[in-house]
Amino acid sequence: MPKEIKSIRDIPGVTPSIADKLEAAGYTTPWAIVVARAAEIAEKAAIPPKTAEKIIENARKLLGIRFKTAKEIKLERLNVRKITTGSKALDDLLGGGIETKTITEFFGEFGSGKTQICHQLSVNVQLPPERGGLNGKAVYIDTEGTFRWERIEAMARGVGLDPDQVMENIFVQRAYNSDHQMAIVEELFNFVPENNVKLVIIDSVTGHFRAEYPGREHLAERQQKLNKHLHQLVRLAEAYNIAVVVTNQVMARPDVFYGDPTQAVGGHVLAHTPGIRVQLRKAKGNKRIARIVDAPHLPEGEAVFVITDEGIRDLEE
Ligand code: GTP
Ligand code: MG
Repeated sequence: MPKEIKSIRDIPGVTPSIADKLEAAGYTTPWAIVVARAAEIAEKAAIPPKTAEKIIENARKLLGIRFKTAKEIKLERLNVRKITTGSKALDDLLGGGIETKTITEFFGEFGSGKTQICHQLSVNVQLPPERGGLNGKAVYIDTEGTFRWERIEAMARGVGLDPDQVMENIFVQRAYNSDHQMAIVEELFNFVPENNVKLVIIDSVTGHFRAEYPGREHLAERQQKLNKHLHQLVRLAEAYNIAVVVTNQVMARPDVFYGDPTQAVGGHVLAHTPGIRVQLRKAKGNKRIARIVDAPHLPEGEAVFVITDEGIRDLEE
């Protein structure tokens, strides 16, 4: 995590006039520059490609992006923090809660609780650390129009926080298509550090991509673009030590759904991105079952939780 927020004007080679051009093109932090491609910066900011390359290299040095020793990586892991889901059973399954510096994907069929968990986390991130929060704010990128302030109010009351205050600390934006969704994430490289954001939600991360690139014939293109998006999110999580949580709707019965090959394998769209994948299933009534997929470092098994009026809770036996 950057100790202090550095300006693009601190990057060697960025003259005041280049800085103005970069800012006008939307590159307002060194992080925004290191995660972009040189050709893209050159085009958008109208500067020579060689200059853009040099600026990226210098920005990388400024931010200390380089080889690290195993020891350093171990120490960095110690910075990882966790947000409670509201259910002890689910937290235990996740190794203590939702982690910062990584992407956590919740996937499952409609009504399996993905959106409810996103709402709950937007509230819980605001709790103090001793109660499982990070004293931070949340960004909620809503791609399907399913964000409900009423649920936030109820969940805030459920944890004993002032609902109005909690709602002030959640920044919601509708994303209208996949390009818009990606542009919002780019802006977050500035917005997150400026606003003490500790959690970024994208509900759902895959919806627009599926709608815009339907069927087998667009699969490669869709996957390529989605990978770029996910990479952007991993960078964001790592750069600012924040949690990124995404949802992904998959069919309960992929065998009866032929149109979309990613559905047929259980929605493994995000399978090649580092992160934690949690499958959600509906059970009787308000019960839901969570299972971690492809995470050798986490314990096998399942967690049962319930969705109540107050939010995500443990099943009271
Ligand atoms: P899709 O977005 O359609 O893929 O589903 P999802 O996985 O996001 O499901 P979501 O999180 O919206 O879960 C919906 C379920 O949460 C409903 O079926 C209800 O059981 C439960 N739920 C939603 N709102 C409330 C509420 O105010 N009170 C209670 N008790 N349960 C609620
Ligand atoms: Mg939903």
